[in-house]
Amino acid sequence: MTDLFSPVQLGNLELSNRIVMAPMTRNRAPQGIPTELMAEYYRQRASAGLIVTEGAQISEQGIGYPATPGIHTDEQIEGWKTVTEAVHDARGHIFCQLWHCGRISHPDYHGGSKPVAPSAIVAAGQAFTYEGLKDFVEPRALDADEIPGIVDQYRHAAACAMQAGFDGVELHSANGYLLDQFLRDGTNRRTDVYGGSIENRIRLLKEVTEAVVAEIGADKVGVRISPVNAFNDIHDSEPQALFNQVAEMLTDIGIAFLHVVEVTMAGDVDRAVDMSDIRRRFNGLSIANGGYDKARGNAAIADGRADLVAYGIPYLANPDLPERFKQDAALNEADQATFYGGDEHGYTDYPTLGD
Ligand code: PHB
Repeated sequence: MTDLFSPVQLGNLELSNRIVMAPMTRNRAPQGIPTELMAEYYRQRASAGLIVTEGAQISEQGIGYPATPGIHTDEQIEGWKTVTEAVHDARGHIFCQLWHCGRISHPDYHGGSKPVAPSAIVAAGQAFTYEGLKDFVEPRALDADEIPGIVDQYRHAAACAMQAGFDGVELHSANGYLLDQFLRDGTNRRTDVYGGSIENRIRLLKEVTEAVVAEIGADKVGVRISPVNAFNDIHDSEPQALFNQVAEMLTDIGIAFLHVVEVTMAGDVDRAVDMSDIRRRFNGLSIANGGYDKARGNAAIADGRADLVAYGIPYLANPDLPERFKQDAALNEADQATFYGGDEHGYTDYPTLGD
């Protein structure tokens, strides 16, 4: 029977199991440059079938949080090389998550200019800045003639990721960031070809995916979506129809995987969207994420609801998660206080079973 421990082919890669380390922001990259400590953190987790990194901003314009890594300069590429080499030395596989925060940012990161978004609609809530929390400001709506530049930021970042030694990239089209802001009618009120109908709202994701696929190959590209997550004040009047069409569009392009966050940020299931309906329309590998444990992960794979399962917080706190699942061993508890920023504490000092 197929389960979490069954190998699976992802493009040219033979993944040794179907356990994925989910992308998690950890804010430990001063000046946006990955460090040796980050390399150690990912190396410790290399027994995952696949690691998807924390979001890496694709440009200065894409930044929205303190000390998140970038993937658009030579220095950042050099920093990431230590990460990819450490993971590959430990026989792991690693994709880089490409991230543009859009309106979930603050003028402090942009020399006082407004963050950009599909439309000038302010998010409820506050931005994380180097000076603490500050109210979100009304973003500047991107001009139509700036869109090719956005597409090129993704293409360039994908090229940088391959230079840095990654096995592929995941496009972050989830959780209320730029690509999600374009998808949803709550944040996209554009009247040009990038707004209005579902076909128009998915156009940016389509163009970005096509550009990245042309740059590095479809077998090295995945996309992450979060149909029911209202995080970052995102909402849509018709999420089922929207994400069904996203899945069909991504099938046409032929990307390697679709990574679906099935729950809200609080971990709740929202039955307003049928995830199976979305996945049925996608013919690549599907990665399920959101509140899974070992039993539910095995069940999802056994009954064909997912090909792989991504674990976030359990992976943060358990570098040897596959081995713990195999042995039915107890899991370390995650310490919320050290999730975002700081040093090795709560980062590389979670014990393994052997410790
Ligand atoms: C966060 O930093 O809280 C965060 C970042 C990216 C996500 C979700 C949450 O996709």
